[in-house]
Amino acid sequence: MTLLPTPHSPLPTDLDAFWMPFTANRQFKAKPRLMAAAKGVHYTTVDGREVLDGTAGLWCVNAGHGREKIAAAVHAQVSQLDFAPTFQMGHPGPFSLADRLAKMLPGDLNHVFFTNSGSESVDTALKIALAYHRVRGEGSRTRLIGRERGYHGVGFGGISVGGIAPNRKFFGSMIPGVDHLPHTHNLEHNAFTRGQPEWGAHLADELERIVTLHDASTIAAVIVEPMAGSTGVLIPPKGYLERLRAICDKHGILLIFDEVITGFGRLGSSFATEHFGVLPDLVAVAKGITNGTIPMGAVFARQGIHDAFMHGPENGIELFHGYTYSGHPVACAAAEATLDIYEEEGLFDRARSLSSYWEKAVHSLQGLPHVIDIRNLGLVAGVELAASEQPGARGYECLVTCFEQGLLVRTTGDIIALSPPLIFETHHIDQLIEQLTSVLKALP
Ligand SMILES: Cc1ncc(COP(=O)(O)O)c(C=O)c1O
Repeated sequence: MTLLPTPHSPLPTDLDAFWMPFTANRQFKAKPRLMAAAKGVHYTTVDGREVLDGTAGLWCVNAGHGREKIAAAVHAQVSQLDFAPTFQMGHPGPFSLADRLAKMLPGDLNHVFFTNSGSESVDTALKIALAYHRVRGEGSRTRLIGRERGYHGVGFGGISVGGIAPNRKFFGSMIPGVDHLPHTHNLEHNAFTRGQPEWGAHLADELERIVTLHDASTIAAVIVEPMAGSTGVLIPPKGYLERLRAICDKHGILLIFDEVITGFGRLGSSFATEHFGVLPDLVAVAKGITNGTIPMGAVFARQGIHDAFMHGPENGIELFHGYTYSGHPVACAAAEATLDIYEEEGLFDRARSLSSYWEKAVHSLQGLPHVIDIRNLGLVAGVELAASEQPGARGYECLVTCFEQGLLVRTTGDIIALSPPLIFETHHIDQLIEQLTSVLKALP
């Protein structure tokens, strides 16, 4: 093995101590897949092999790897101001960044609460929604509505509104008073749809049934991923999000978009709210905000939500919530440099202009062995494989074989999710499709 040096991180002699997240630890450690370096759209493994990044890391490295501008900003910030509290204290970073971000969001989504991850952003958005109703004197609105097959991170709030059984069933009764909309995935009606499916907007009407069951006066918020990523790329049917918005409006329920994946260009617009032309009340983001370099998340709140808290004595804390690292100086510097790159290189427009080439390329996989659906939007695609006897086994085998052959994909069960960095060139798309085609042809 040609082992590459990794600065400040010695090559491990024993893999046992690190309890890996969302990983089959024993299986992985028996045959590890370790990255040592990354530049542009490629990783290099510890044994010196180049791997094409078909997933922007974990849906986060939208501007590609090894961006010098971000590295320089982080270095300069650590040297000048490594940390300063943001509880009853401050530093310029989060104020400037919030102002810049607020200008990127449509409508009056113009206040920003900083977190350190998508999970924290989701839990923060849910807490703001609950507290908002309470400060307005509607404290009976405590129910939260999520959706089946939704992924909202791993905090107790996120797994409660999320709709993935293994993420929930080990962890007790979670938070009470949660209900779920049905998911919109349906191969009978929508298989091999390009872009948004025609069928399925009516599934939003299930919210009316939930409202009838519990009464609107008990419901605080509905949270959805505008496009569900982690559960296998579920594209919203045409009109679905619009209908959810209308029903929420009718009953005074807040609508939260979890844009942890869709934010920062993934769909070819800065945010899904802009892409679909539907304005939620709160938006949760993370990942692409710093190009995956430094942990950071944020929640965007509409003017009216923020203002509802700004009452009472001026020396009173308005929202009893926050993290030691909310608005961390180094994360703010990384985010500013990331936004510079997105702007200077027009990466969101680039994603939009590449999306039709991408769509055609991914749909060329139709007809290959095991492929039962292909779906796409912006620079995302899901390729669903027929399950073998053991659900998920074929997907896992595909992931491992792709990696061995120099392509990083992500799989959820038997669904392959593709979400390349937005700096991909058409020849990278061709290469990805070629590699995936050869893997799919050989899969048992
Ligand atoms: C839609 C969505 N929400 C929340 C999260 C959780 O983010 P994190 O892993 O940063 O906590 C993710 C992560 O993939 C996500 O896709």
